Amino acid sequence: MGEQTRETFGSRIGFIFAAAGSAIGLGNVWRFPYLVGAHGGAAFVIVYLIMVFIIGIVCFVAEVSLGRHTRQSNVGAFKAIKPSWGPAGLIGITAGFMILSFYSVIGGWSIYYFFKAFAGFPAADPVVCNEMFNAFVTSSAAPIFFHALFMLATIYIVYSGVQSGIERYSNIMMPALFVLIVILAIRSMTLPGAGAGIEFLIKPDFSQITGEVLLAALGQVFFTLSLGMGSILTYGSYLGQDESIPNVSTIVPLMDTLIAFLAGLVIFPAVFAYGFEPGQGVGLVFVTLPAIFSEMPAGNLFGAAFFFFIILAALTSAISLLEPPTAYMMEEHGWERRKASVVIGIVIFIVGVFASLSMGVLSDFTIGGMVIFDLLDYLSGNWLLPISGLVTAIFVAWVWGTDNALQEATNDGTIEFAWGSLWANVLIKYVAPILITVVFLSSIGVIKVGV
Ligand code: PHE
Repeated sequence: MGEQTRETFGSRIGFIFAAAGSAIGLGNVWRFPYLVGAHGGAAFVIVYLIMVFIIGIVCFVAEVSLGRHTRQSNVGAFKAIKPSWGPAGLIGITAGFMILSFYSVIGGWSIYYFFKAFAGFPAADPVVCNEMFNAFVTSSAAPIFFHALFMLATIYIVYSGVQSGIERYSNIMMPALFVLIVILAIRSMTLPGAGAGIEFLIKPDFSQITGEVLLAALGQVFFTLSLGMGSILTYGSYLGQDESIPNVSTIVPLMDTLIAFLAGLVIFPAVFAYGFEPGQGVGLVFVTLPAIFSEMPAGNLFGAAFFFFIILAALTSAISLLEPPTAYMMEEHGWERRKASVVIGIVIFIVGVFASLSMGVLSDFTIGGMVIFDLLDYLSGNWLLPISGLVTAIFVAWVWGTDNALQEATNDGTIEFAWGSLWANVLIKYVAPILITVVFLSSIGVIKVGV
């Protein structure tokens, strides 16, 4: 509420770790590798990299600037610039709410897999590992128990506040996560026969680039950089006044990209070394990798390290999904942080229980042909996220205005923003809104993009 009581990050590195923690998550370790596998390897990686630059960093600058300028989270930020736009912020809040409800279920699976990995996965056979995966996710009590554990940790951190919760735990978890992924990548890349996997990631076959690949890459950029749902905007509202927005907005996406690439270097060399298929889709992490770990020397240790890495990555993202609705209740409804984080966290947990059960006992209950889990994923990812991203880009460029936004992004002209005029006159004004619109229309099937 009052300006003087607003929490902030204690340091620049605190913001960077927290924002990188938000960005680096299941999107990097689970979604990115399976998209790379399904879309032909290096060609996808290159398209993805281009998208990070022409749209990811562009929208990142916009969200951080809007957040820091208004010192408000989603709804309040829009309202502060133009009161009638307040409700626009609710789209992002809703998307974050929905994403967290099933994201936390997957976070719970990772905790279970961490213990399973220690004990040793059943066999070096994806069919057996697939059975194990299915038996677990379709059961009722166990996944809900782990979902509860994951949500409890998320609530606890957000409950503890910006500096003593989010910043403090990000500062511990992010360095641990970097160390783990580097060790795992070295292990994977030194397996006999790993070369083919490395090649798969870095040697592009440009004939693989199709309209579908472009769309998948763009959607991934949004999801992986946590754009469109107020996470980055809200973290931006806690960023110190002297920090360089262009600077942090470039570092965080680059860190995120580096981790996605390293996750690829963990997964693909191992997949190729053990003669598995890279295009396994969503089962890559929870089915193919367990099969590999059960064959790899000391596979239970590396497996446990891998799933611990996923837990850390998912947890730092989950807190950034709980923070915007928490901040919203604090700013707009005068709730205390503690009450807001606990109440919202419990509601999200309950929605997640239904998402989890929809894999098993509730699998006959469908809406539009989708079980609850898939529905939450579909609605948030294909509808709310792009709409909210589009609204934010248009709002910053055309309502707030690029002159004002640029003023904020350059700390009133006192710091350098080398590509600032390109950002203001071309990228955020035209390129971002147009590309997001194309992705949105095609993801809901209104237009078909083909090459
Ligand atoms: N960026 C996170 C990931 O890659 C997911 C996320 C999306 C987190 C939106 C916060 C907001 O897993």
